Amino acid sequence: MSKQTLTITDNRTGQTIELPIEHDTVPAIGLRQLKVQADDFGMMLYDPGYTNTASCKSQVTFVDGDKGILRYRGYPIERLAKESTFLEVAYLLLFGELPTASKLTDWNARVMAQTRIDDGLKNLLQTFPADAHPMGVLISAVAAMSTFYPEAKQVHDSETRLRQVLRMLGQLPTAVAFAYRNGRGLPAIEPDAALGYSDNFLHMMGFAGDGDGGIDPVLARAMDVLFVLHADHEQNCSTSALRNIASSDADPYCAVAGAIGALYGPLHGGANEAVLRMLAEIGDVKKIPAYLDRVKGREVRLMGFGHRVYKNYDPRAQIVKKIAYEVFDVTGSNPLIDIAVELERTAIEDDYFVSRRLYPNVDFYSGIIYQAMGFPVEIFPVLFALGRTPGWLAQWMELMGDAEQRIARPRQIYLGEGERPYPPIGERG
Ligand code: SDX
Repeated sequence: MSKQTLTITDNRTGQTIELPIEHDTVPAIGLRQLKVQADDFGMMLYDPGYTNTASCKSQVTFVDGDKGILRYRGYPIERLAKESTFLEVAYLLLFGELPTASKLTDWNARVMAQTRIDDGLKNLLQTFPADAHPMGVLISAVAAMSTFYPEAKQVHDSETRLRQVLRMLGQLPTAVAFAYRNGRGLPAIEPDAALGYSDNFLHMMGFAGDGDGGIDPVLARAMDVLFVLHADHEQNCSTSALRNIASSDADPYCAVAGAIGALYGPLHGGANEAVLRMLAEIGDVKKIPAYLDRVKGREVRLMGFGHRVYKNYDPRAQIVKKIAYEVFDVTGSNPLIDIAVELERTAIEDDYFVSRRLYPNVDFYSGIIYQAMGFPVEIFPVLFALGRTPGWLAQWMELMGDAEQRIARPRQIYLGEGERPYPPIGERG
């Protein structure tokens, strides 16, 4: 049996250390033994963007980027997208197992019982200008919830944690819909707890009527599946931001607000909005070659393409593409889909993208569906955030229960000035 250790020799000194290998990783702290002078700080790892650093041990989500595999608690995303509801998947992510029928009924009722928002939150949402970006509004709304529910600071009490989880799952869609309609001078539509989660969201948005006041089931199911596809994705940028904030025992509202802030960026969850703006800018399939030339000239990025982990197809992108056509059967096609399909076809045959293993990710097609359903472009990242909320909260609960976790506090390589004398103001410049 080979030794499960890594031997490292520091050629500056000849010092050799042996580190234990666990889960194909070694503890970075072990490198601190390597010193040139006895009073040196010791060696560190340098890993900008954490491209090869495990920040935690997790049992929530597994991603194999080379094989294009995504599983929530061991279940393939393809099966969950086909068989489960979003709240069922939220239960799975949070508690580790798919619920029985009775537990799912109870869980649905508990979440839907939390869909009304505090009048104070409504007042806050009404203060934003009509053109306020919905992500800025959502960040503010979630952070504000920490003031309405100060008990949330008791992050080590499991019952208190669960109450905040239910409040965020229940209230965030209502807050989003309220802000959307308020920004357009439309009256709020109160939540209907008798509806399904996504049916209720579309209901509160005033969308997706089936002609006689109901919610079109195809669109409600498409919304639910899109939420499922976005529900978690291991240690992505926004989840890592959430874990960083929560590692100081900050309350979950502040942690989720920070995660939404990270998601807002166009390199992350803001990509779905950027894709729509890109497709609109291209405007015609005939202009695709010229746009791709700009991408290859590094003038612009092909938004919705590429991924830190997936170096093959993002399995979610293929499911989203299929949903698009189901939605178009109800809403009528979105002309941008033709540009997107041709853009994908052209790019995946182009060596610039193939050599860099750039394929469509979850954001490439999702925005086209959202637009066809009636959502304005700027709300697309908010829809991503609503879907990701159970994943963030599952990762937060896991962090709170992880005895190995400490407050996040990375080190740095200091390359600045050494000590120098303080110049009086008259002697500066
Ligand atoms: C999400 O991490 C997650 O799991 C995220 C997510 C989740 O569910 O939480 O999956 C959701 O954020 C999906 C990604 C959405 N973002 C976009 O679609 C924006 C466009 N994509 C990129 O900007 C980029 O691909 C990233 C940010 C997604 C990944 O960046 P990396 O891993 O840091 O890759 P990189 O920037 O080092 O790129 C490697 C090479 C570079 O070329 P070279 O300098 O080596 O010649 O690929 C090129 C990049 O220039 N490249 C692109 C590109 N993405 C990478 N070139 C053109 N267009 C792109 N989109």
